[in-house]
Amino acid sequence: MKSVRLAAIGLLVAIFPITTQAAPANKLVVGFSQIGAESAWRTAETESILSEAKKRGVELKTSDAQQKQENQIKALRSFVAQRVDVIILAPVVETGWQPVLREVKRANIPVVLVDRGINVPDQSLYATLIASDFVQEGSMAAEWLAKKLNGKGNIVELQGTTGAAPAIDRKKGFEEGIGKQSGLKVIKSQSGDFTRSKGKEVMEAFLKAEGKNIQAVYAHNDDMALGAIQAIEEAGFKPGTDIIVVSIDGVKDAFHAMIAGKLNCSVECNPLLGPAAFDAVAAMLAGKSVPKKTIVKDELFDQTNAKNVIESRKY
Ligand code: AHR
Repeated sequence: MKSVRLAAIGLLVAIFPITTQAAPANKLVVGFSQIGAESAWRTAETESILSEAKKRGVELKTSDAQQKQENQIKALRSFVAQRVDVIILAPVVETGWQPVLREVKRANIPVVLVDRGINVPDQSLYATLIASDFVQEGSMAAEWLAKKLNGKGNIVELQGTTGAAPAIDRKKGFEEGIGKQSGLKVIKSQSGDFTRSKGKEVMEAFLKAEGKNIQAVYAHNDDMALGAIQAIEEAGFKPGTDIIVVSIDGVKDAFHAMIAGKLNCSVECNPLLGPAAFDAVAAMLAGKSVPKKTIVKDELFDQTNAKNVIESRKY
């Protein structure tokens, strides 16, 4: 029986490679299912989880899903088979988690959601969510842009991954924000999957179709905005001047682009979630209750303050 179980674990690990940060026996074992490495933000989040686990002597099993929910589901099943103590999940999309999380619950493994929320009828399937308020981020971007454009202009939108909480909520918050101004219109909106290359590709298509008709770009993350900036330059326009560029994340490259005058504004989304995630893990294992949701506070940066704060940025 035992060999059958070990064979099953072996098969899962073979299908879906899991990396393990080794630790002495009897240490806490945590499975971390990460979305991928699609953006600088994501790399910073992974680093934060990894370094916090190391600092606390936790054995961490990490799995990179390459932006695919099916890979995350396989990883969760593999964590169950390996009997980890807790699972940290950064879910790529909002829906489709109920069946696998039921399996995790049956195995008595608590789940800490980081970064993105999920849509499940049964809220007991996860213990806690630690994330930014994505709707708020979208409305902060809208408010800033409305002022910059004096309430008038055509905007193109680069959405994040379809079905992902930040893509849904950042769109919603932005639409609500600019909805107050009748002179502002989103004339094109498409997913750039949170990546620089896709952001560039989609922006090229927008420029081909609309050209001089575009006054601003709203990108759901910095990587797509940086791709869009390249496309704008290649099309013979000046990003930051001819076309205003606003995005979300606040990664280092966005600060460099703001200082260079090419990106106008970036709303921060803090990826350094490791300490809060492992605080929640520790609290739960000590039998303490944890809040269902912890909201991370974010700030807005633009060309007026980018230069003064860049040195203090941690990601
Ligand atoms: O879920 C957070 C988003 O995912 C970040 O804004 C983006 O850069 C990442 O890929």
